[in-house]
Amino acid sequence: ASRYFSSLLESEQRSSFGIAFDIDGVILRGRDPIGGSPQAVRRLLKDSGNLNVPFLFLTNGGGVPESKRANELSEQLGVKILPSQVLQGHSPFKSLLKRYENQLIIAAGKGEPAVVMSEYGFKKVVSIDEYASLFENIDPLSEYKKWTTNQVLDRSVHPMNTVPRCDVSSEAVKAVFVVSDPVDWGRDIQVLCDVLRCGGLPGQENGHQPPLYFASDDLEYQAVFPSNRLGMGAFRIALESVFNRVHHNPLEHVSFGKPNPVVFKNAEAMLRQLQVSYRSNNSKESGDSGLQSFKTLYMIGDNPSVDIKGARQAGHPWFSILTRTGVFRGKHNHAEFPADMASRMMELLAWCKLILIN
Ligand code: G3P
Ligand code: MG
Repeated sequence: ASRYFSSLLESEQRSSFGIAFDIDGVILRGRDPIGGSPQAVRRLLKDSGNLNVPFLFLTNGGGVPESKRANELSEQLGVKILPSQVLQGHSPFKSLLKRYENQLIIAAGKGEPAVVMSEYGFKKVVSIDEYASLFENIDPLSEYKKWTTNQVLDRSVHPMNTVPRCDVSSEAVKAVFVVSDPVDWGRDIQVLCDVLRCGGLPGQENGHQPPLYFASDDLEYQAVFPSNRLGMGAFRIALESVFNRVHHNPLEHVSFGKPNPVVFKNAEAMLRQLQVSYRSNNSKESGDSGLQSFKTLYMIGDNPSVDIKGARQAGHPWFSILTRTGVFRGKHNHAEFPADMASRMMELLAWCKLILIN
């Protein structure tokens, strides 16, 4: 494998390539780094001299703003990661700002979904926790639930502070954004069926389904538990199955995240911006301001049907590398979505080292 990496990289021109790292199952398992991932990233930053390899993290996860995720990653990996180097499943929601900037929208999922959407500029966001709390008895099982959700943090930042609660409960919801993995599937399926089947207002007789957006569609992902965990795609299937039984029209929805080609386009554009900023810093020293188009962009992921399928669909200049550190556990390559290269983490370390030597 090392010889293969070596010959591959010998054909690369300096700075004509970039790297997109998946997070869950490649860089981290839960909150802990996998294998030598911090060393690999540190090498890219510290030992690269003026090579300045543009790299970023391309994850389908999320639930916190990119700036907060960048700080968390900086701590976990021991290097400074910029917010512009973090692309999460929900990052493309920014592109829908014009359409919903002043409209009432629901943000669902773990973490701080309403804060995420407020930071993107959406002015009338309500988290699903808070929305559910406005409708008495909407969840008939709530009295059996011993846990409490952290609504205080979400409410302290997003503009619900200034929007009267009665307005929210009597105004039709214009769109629903599933920002991160839902916590209380039972309640969320109930509340979303109410909102989506009644034109955006629970209790109404009928109405057209408001648009529904998912940050990703991962059926499974690698967390701390030894076997794969159910992801947002599993929640989507559950919601869709129930909705299609209680409503005459099938559920309409749009999913972002990998393998959506938009995500790879955005990642390429961001890697280009990073390359431009590295070059303008270097050109001050060397006088060379020439930019090369990317010869190769490496997508390093653990999920064949998400990371590898996405990179393959995106086509040139993307080159997919499949690790065996997460969702994929096969010995060789994946049969349905084979990567351009299947690798173990140790080989990846060697690979990063070779980038720097060549
Ligand atoms: O919830 C996280 C999961 O969907 C996958 O994250 O980093 O493997 O794209 P990642
Ligand atoms: Mg992954």
